[in-house]
Amino acid sequence: MLPVKVSEGVHWVGALDPQLRVFDIIMKADHGTTYNAYLITGGDKIAVVDTVKAPFYEDFIANIRSLVDPRDIAYVIVNHTEPDHSGSLARFLEDAPNAKVVCDRQCKNFVKNILNRDVDPMLVQDGDVLDLGGGTELRFIHAPFLHWPDTMFTYYGKDGVLFTCDFLGAHYCDDRIFDDLVNDYSHAFEYYYLVIFRPFKKHVLEAIEKIKDLEIKVIATSHGPVLRSDPWSYVEKYRSWSLKPEPTGQKNLLVFYASAYGNTAALAESIARGAREDGARVTVMDVASTELGLMIDRIEAADGIAVGSATINGDAVEPVWYLLSHLATLNLKGKVGASFGSYGWSGEAPKLIAERLKGLKLKVEEEPLRVNLVPTAEDLREAEEFGRRIARSL
Ligand code: FEO
Repeated sequence: MLPVKVSEGVHWVGALDPQLRVFDIIMKADHGTTYNAYLITGGDKIAVVDTVKAPFYEDFIANIRSLVDPRDIAYVIVNHTEPDHSGSLARFLEDAPNAKVVCDRQCKNFVKNILNRDVDPMLVQDGDVLDLGGGTELRFIHAPFLHWPDTMFTYYGKDGVLFTCDFLGAHYCDDRIFDDLVNDYSHAFEYYYLVIFRPFKKHVLEAIEKIKDLEIKVIATSHGPVLRSDPWSYVEKYRSWSLKPEPTGQKNLLVFYASAYGNTAALAESIARGAREDGARVTVMDVASTELGLMIDRIEAADGIAVGSATINGDAVEPVWYLLSHLATLNLKGKVGASFGSYGWSGEAPKLIAERLKGLKLKVEEEPLRVNLVPTAEDLREAEEFGRRIARSL
């Protein structure tokens, strides 16, 4: 694809990857992605912001060559060193030998280990300015943990363009490039936030605070559409998703279950009933039919979770492990954890879940509640009492 003019002094020179379906092993990319890189020609000196994933280098350098001679490029700004943006840096420096690498000081070792040679980058820190001549400057904004420690934004004030790398991006491939031209991609935008930025809400809010007074006409992200229709509306979405919910004054327990024949589900309902009687606000969710993002959002705001599973082949079932495998990036310390389940002959699942909850730093004080096959009325009363005790410990 040919370069696209973003503003008077900025061109998109990235690459499209419409076939991608899984990103970084764990992330769905149903609509492919783009690796956005930018060429700034508005000053006396030419700069590139980010490169592209290594297999897409030829697209990227062809775009640059159609506009300038790479040997005339003075700077390559590395906003973030994950290889989907820096993977072709080594080849780029061969074609653009006069380009100085510019990066945050956190980034220096990453760059060295990507290039596998000593480099002497220009290290910048929050608020530093790089003069490109002709009344043109780049300002750097340190934005740590969005989503690596190295991340920074670059602001090209002359045209009001903020380069934010992954921040406000989306895995969504469309050669029309701009948000006002592509179809509705809000689902991809939100999914990207949920997977990449939700663990870093505090840093999201801090970064928004840093950019709030900038005059921004375009937000040039590194994946998906370039945001020019109403850039601040996207920032506001990130802000609202990152704010803590207002406290309700009531303790909040989530009861998750996976049930083969309704027995573990019956325990879940009894636990919930008992916890409610003790004053907790309780939500029961079937992990096999509830959207992962919703469960994670609720867990983040909860005071405790009880997780139940049938035991099949000596283990908890896959939807339970799927949920538990996505909790490592949440801060769960101090939340209460408990486990339960109905079983046929061995009943390992509740114990295995309890171990995992402890590993995630939840406070697990109750012995796992285990019931053989169909719960009796006595078993259900015991489950209610189990729920009451959990509610009291929240
Ligand atoms: Fe798109 Fe964190 O790299």
